[in-house]
Amino acid sequence: MNHISFINLAYIVSCALFAFGLKFLASPETARKGNWLSALGMLIAVIATLTSHEIISFQWILIGMIIGSILGALVAFRAAMTQMPEMIALLHGFGALASVFVDWSAYHSHRPDTIVVTTALYLSILIGGVTFTGSGIAWGKLSERLSGKPILFPGQMWINIAALAFVLALAVPFFMHPAYYPVFLAILGISFLLGILTVIPIGGADMPVVISVLNSYSGLVACTTGFVINNVLLIVVGSLVGANGIILSYIMCKAMNRSLGNVLFGAFAASKKKKAVGEKKEAKSASIEDAYLVLEAAHSVVVVPGYGLAVAQAQHAIRELGELLEKNGAEVRYAIHPVAGRMPGHMNVLLAEANVPYDQLVEMENINPIMDTVDVCIVIGANDTVNPAALHDKTSPIYGMPIVETFRARTVFVIKRSMASGFAGIENELFYYDNTRMIFGDAKDVAQKLVAEFKAK
Ligand code: TAP
Repeated sequence: MNHISFINLAYIVSCALFAFGLKFLASPETARKGNWLSALGMLIAVIATLTSHEIISFQWILIGMIIGSILGALVAFRAAMTQMPEMIALLHGFGALASVFVDWSAYHSHRPDTIVVTTALYLSILIGGVTFTGSGIAWGKLSERLSGKPILFPGQMWINIAALAFVLALAVPFFMHPAYYPVFLAILGISFLLGILTVIPIGGADMPVVISVLNSYSGLVACTTGFVINNVLLIVVGSLVGANGIILSYIMCKAMNRSLGNVLFGAFAASKKKKAVGEKKEAKSASIEDAYLVLEAAHSVVVVPGYGLAVAQAQHAIRELGELLEKNGAEVRYAIHPVAGRMPGHMNVLLAEANVPYDQLVEMENINPIMDTVDVCIVIGANDTVNPAALHDKTSPIYGMPIVETFRARTVFVIKRSMASGFAGIENELFYYDNTRMIFGDAKDVAQKLVAEFKAK
């Protein structure tokens, strides 16, 4: 087997490992295996590329690896679990920038000479530029370095349309004279600007969806860069990332009952619809002792975690409470809403970290049909994902979003610090239901107190 065939074979093996890795990542039980397979695929890809003789000197690669590894390790160690979406935004942004640099260097050393390469190069710098600055803005909004509110100014939509039209028009001189450097730089510059302009009008709360869309873009850039430098592996892997990013965006939008268009361009509709909903009654609170007495007598308990669980890092305490309830004879399950928290799979990751058995995790659509038979629901740090207004109040911004129907359980305990609203900024009807009792306090603190109460009795 000659050298080239060997490299191509190694690339095919990597691609297969990436595809199986993605498949295994679809379930928490196999996700670890999926990660390992993908990492192995990446290792084979890196070794094959390093031996392909199509590289610059090992010395430069080593310098890049050392700087990149130090920066990456520093950022990763310092990031808390709740900061994962912003870290992912940053990584996609830099991935896209790396692709842009590869394109730039390819353009610099050898001007495109076929229509396929010219098209790939044009798309690469356009999408790469948008992804880099767009991800930077998304990171700024999520990390609160920039205002999370939509940034709007008069004529913004027309400026965006003009910038897009201009960069599309630049394709004409680029295709006619690919060797002309100023056009290349102009496309890159406008793309950077477009990334900023398209993401600033989107509210911080919608950033996870935006990040998932940008994830998809970063895959597309890798794919088009693959065409530019004639690398099959980049084309295949870029397509995988592009496809999974767009599928994830679709799943998130569907679970929030929003369209992608509404998330990306909704701010231009300037809706001021987030208003209070629900009948004005008194919310009733319960003490730890009251809650203990009800829980102690319960045969089936469903824990419904939300964003507050992540903020309070209450996953270990709630798992311990779950174990005590089981010892007491209750059946304990954890209901998972697809958009609970702030990133896909947020609750699964937290509960897995606390060693909650996978078979106790139940998807929303599987728990709802049996909710009438549940004795107690413990809503811990969740709010919008359990708000009954989503089912009937057509004026509510979350109308149509499927929820975990906790209100149908015999008793609902809601653990949170105050009556404050959640992500959607609206009041929650559930808090005023006759079968609901509020337990005010930090999620971890309350869960620990309940554990202590069980242990003491
Ligand atoms: P939210 O509706 O955001 O509510 C979280 C609640 O947690 C808040 O009301 C807050 O009330 C409470 N909380 C915060 N810190 C706490 C602490 N230390 N202890 C106890 N409670 C605490 O949460 P959710 O039900 O998980 O809903 C998620 C929302 O995010 C949905 O609207 C969803 O559409 C949106 N979203 C999700 C995603 C993904 S992919 N997951 C992406 C984009 C948007 P207090 O301040 O009173 O404590």
